Amino acid sequence: AKITIDASQNKKISDMLMGVFFEDINYAADGGLYAELIQNRDFEYALSDKEGRDEKWNHTTSWSGSFRLDSVNGIHTNNSHYAVLKNGAITNSGFDGIALKAGDKYDFSLFAKGAKCTVKLKDAAGNVVAETTVTPGSSWKKYIAVLKPSKTITDGFLEISTSEETAVDMVSLFPQKTYKGRKNGLREDLAQTVAGLKPRFMRFPGGCVAHGDGLGNIYRWKNTIGPLESRVPMRNLWGYHQTVGLGYFEYFQYCEDMGSEPVPVLAAGVPCQNSGTGGAGQQFGIPMEHMDEYVQDVLDLIEYANGAATTTWGKKRAEAGHPKPFNLKYIGIGNEDLITDVFEERYTMIVNAVKKKYPNIIVIGTVGPFFEGADYREGWAIADKLNINMVDEHYYEQPGWFINNQDFYDSYDRSKSKVYLGEYASWGSTIYNALAEALYLSALERNGDVVSMASYAPLLAKEQHTQWNPDLVYFNNTEVMPTVNYYVQQLYGQNAGDSYIQNTIKLSDNNNDLQKRIGVSTVKDSKSGDIIVKLVNMLPVSVKPEIDFKGITAKGAVSYTTFKGNAKEKTAVLPVVVSMPVAEAVAKGLAPYSFTIIRIKTK
Ligand code: AHR
Repeated sequence: AKITIDASQNKKISDMLMGVFFEDINYAADGGLYAELIQNRDFEYALSDKEGRDEKWNHTTSWSGSFRLDSVNGIHTNNSHYAVLKNGAITNSGFDGIALKAGDKYDFSLFAKGAKCTVKLKDAAGNVVAETTVTPGSSWKKYIAVLKPSKTITDGFLEISTSEETAVDMVSLFPQKTYKGRKNGLREDLAQTVAGLKPRFMRFPGGCVAHGDGLGNIYRWKNTIGPLESRVPMRNLWGYHQTVGLGYFEYFQYCEDMGSEPVPVLAAGVPCQNSGTGGAGQQFGIPMEHMDEYVQDVLDLIEYANGAATTTWGKKRAEAGHPKPFNLKYIGIGNEDLITDVFEERYTMIVNAVKKKYPNIIVIGTVGPFFEGADYREGWAIADKLNINMVDEHYYEQPGWFINNQDFYDSYDRSKSKVYLGEYASWGSTIYNALAEALYLSALERNGDVVSMASYAPLLAKEQHTQWNPDLVYFNNTEVMPTVNYYVQQLYGQNAGDSYIQNTIKLSDNNNDLQKRIGVSTVKDSKSGDIIVKLVNMLPVSVKPEIDFKGITAKGAVSYTTFKGNAKEKTAVLPVVVSMPVAEAVAKGLAPYSFTIIRIKTK
């Protein structure tokens, strides 16, 4: 293959392309990224959390022992249920057992009233690995203690025992080692794995979770801030319970800790078209008489994120420990909603209100679902009418689709809204899938003047609780298992640029079918001055390219990274960065089924 890379032919592209999309699906939040180790800590699990599923949940799920449930004079109206113990013990086995590390410190806390309690962490055989006591008084109060297990265990449980009547609620256990040491924080290994992608932004909290399963299930950000005991827990659309302990404050904080722009997505005044009342495909929305209030909620979020600490909502952010604004720049409205009049009316109200009050905020609209024959035309017509900054497109397709549709954005009108490819993935976690995504990402970089942002979806999935496959990173209570697709995302994230350098590629036999399986993308990062050449080979044979670098002179050695493997396998030779002269890097050629990056220093 003859490749010509001509530095004089270049264009500006988005420097925000690579980001992540976090949705609480597959136990990604509770039992996952959110580091809380006690399941149903607030006794608010309910039958409806698991509606339609075999397992029945209730306020005592995950708890055993001798206690009764009560809800009279609880700790908060949003959190009314609690357990009353007497002369016995209550145990909680967390999310599939509690994993603890010897010598690490854990913050235990609970609200209690009554008499002295003994708190023990035990291994599966019942041996005590840590112990403390708390002595509550006659009215509700929060008690804290630090526990330091003597042994590393994977399947432990917590036990609270007392010999007199004692009420307990919000029973919590957090490792002190959370991501960046935050209280009410995130599991360090998982949060670090996501941060390792170098995401320029993070979209949250969904997906379908954002617009919810029926009107009552629309994700309301105001329910997810403030003291944990006052938050409003809710049924997760994916069939489990959301404590919302990982709420809007924590999402903003996580973005800031990773150096990523926050991209909150709020429902467009309509829930998922496949949900509850109305039936599949029947769009219904928040009654118009309640829409002003809903629109105000959206505006209030921007004040919460960016307003001075003296404003109504900025004050709440300051009270949570962040007086400085979060500097929110983007807001998403809608999630692949069915494009109907009901949708359009509400969406228009919200978009126009945000544009009017906050003209500098970039509004990301939706253009509807893409699957089952639907296309984006109606959604785009509304985006054009509203002159919206950016629209969110989603598609999950076979790898062949990604190979054959690299020109998807070539003909997009550059004068219209920009695109955020908010959800995409090829169906699978093999090297072949990962390389199809790498190939497609080279086309997204080429179209980086219209595609501003992109995020693979879904991001996280807990083993035994996976409702959607594939996902980018699988995990259990002790391990994190990134897929091969993760490394493609990471290599793009770590090797992003802000201008695109044109290239041409020519195979000796001009075979178009073969040619589209070779991807070349060259970007320049203006900060470092580095020119980064990405080369994808989806052929079963190695390719020896001849590269003509026009107007590019390497200063010293280049860094060379390859990622390769057997097309059908789910594991790869992990990328390693090696330093060598540019001629040697090119001469290495492209291994069968590989992704190679040559990073050239120019200053
Ligand atoms: O990513 C999983 C789901 O796919 C999202 O919740 C939804 O937006 C899409 O249909």
